[in-house]
Amino acid sequence: MLSYRIFAKFSPSRQEVGQATLAFFQLYSFRRRAPSQVDSGGRVSQFCPVSAIGRRPARRAAAANGDFLVNFASDNTAAVAPGIMDALLRANDGFALGYGNDALTRDVEKRIGELFECDAAVFLVPTGTAANALSLAHVTPPWGGVLCHEQAHIMSDECGAPEFFGGGLKLIGLRGAGCKLTRDTVAGAIARYSGHVPHQVNASALSITQATEAGTVYRVDEIAAMSEVAHAHGLAVHMDGARFANALARMNVTPAEATWKAGVDVLSFGATKGGAMAAEAVVFFDREQADFMPERRKRAGHLLSKHRFLAAQFEGYLNDGYWLALARHANAMADRLADGLRACGVPIVWPVDANIVFALLPQALDAKLKAAGAAYYVRPKTLAGDDVAIAPDQMLVRLVTSFATVESEIEKFASLVQSG
Ligand SMILES: Cc1ncc(COP(=O)(O)O)c(C=O)c1O
Repeated sequence: MLSYRIFAKFSPSRQEVGQATLAFFQLYSFRRRAPSQVDSGGRVSQFCPVSAIGRRPARRAAAANGDFLVNFASDNTAAVAPGIMDALLRANDGFALGYGNDALTRDVEKRIGELFECDAAVFLVPTGTAANALSLAHVTPPWGGVLCHEQAHIMSDECGAPEFFGGGLKLIGLRGAGCKLTRDTVAGAIARYSGHVPHQVNASALSITQATEAGTVYRVDEIAAMSEVAHAHGLAVHMDGARFANALARMNVTPAEATWKAGVDVLSFGATKGGAMAAEAVVFFDREQADFMPERRKRAGHLLSKHRFLAAQFEGYLNDGYWLALARHANAMADRLADGLRACGVPIVWPVDANIVFALLPQALDAKLKAAGAAYYVRPKTLAGDDVAIAPDQMLVRLVTSFATVESEIEKFASLVQSG
């Protein structure tokens, strides 16, 4: 009772709470963002025009608390892109209907359809795993098979989510240089996984990753050739577009040309790796293929109650081509990184098509770089398959850039490699 009275006496009006919250965020944003327009070397990055991708989130200096001197571990180690955080803050006002029935969600769904130049059915979810698993479950019967690269994220990094949500569907891993499949590989697998019913799993869908796990990008003609053979045999075509923006930024084509016009039926359109906090869109290019997808998403626990915050992230991401500006920057940083490593004599494994660089580092140099505070992942040599000859003392390392990477990090890393 006493506490209630004290609260009642001092409780501010809703307007006051709103003003105080806004003031807090403005102060917080100012304090966090002030140093962000210049890199840690004090220069504005030539690949980081403030007008194009906005402020860079502030970072603390390297310390024993988990920060690194340079961080190429993944694009999800970056913070949220400022334009997306701003959109979240704008959405953080007043009331909005839940479960996607709000105006912002409707608007974003419409905008995604416009972006892809079709009447798309769009479902926002918070993770790429959910987007992939639910898409694949929707286009594949539980007794069907999904053809994919043997190194695909759905195959090796989603803890069986596609199989689980797909009621037991089977992922069929195929080989291919640079983590890419070809028309011939797909045709061969379809021949292998057709017929002998009801005994064997039949291929029901094809899933390709854009950009691939090797950082390579499928060109439109490659997608079209695989889609053609898949459709001819009744398979649906899914694209895991966790880094769709990076791929598109590299190619001079439209989102429609890179997807449904080349035969893609359903896309996991990622925003998280590109700078969002947690937002992906499942995009069905033919609305009729999305029947009962609302129920599938809900049943899987992926229909967010405060859905407007998913939509807000896409609003910020898509505004004024922000998503492509962020991706172009990340790609440019990867190019710069690969050039810097090549100049030091480090072999680069696959074409750098997106924001991922694979390199071969001597073991001793790897240890030195790690000790100096460089973050990146060493990948199993098996990832390279038969494509690449790797010497016993070499390590296959993956370096990922993001919208937040600045040139000074590349330079620091290159000079560590040089002095190694
Ligand atoms: C190619 C690819 N697809 C899907 C995902 C899954 O995203 P999430 O970690 O949000 O589930 C990732 C994440 O690393 C990825 O790299």
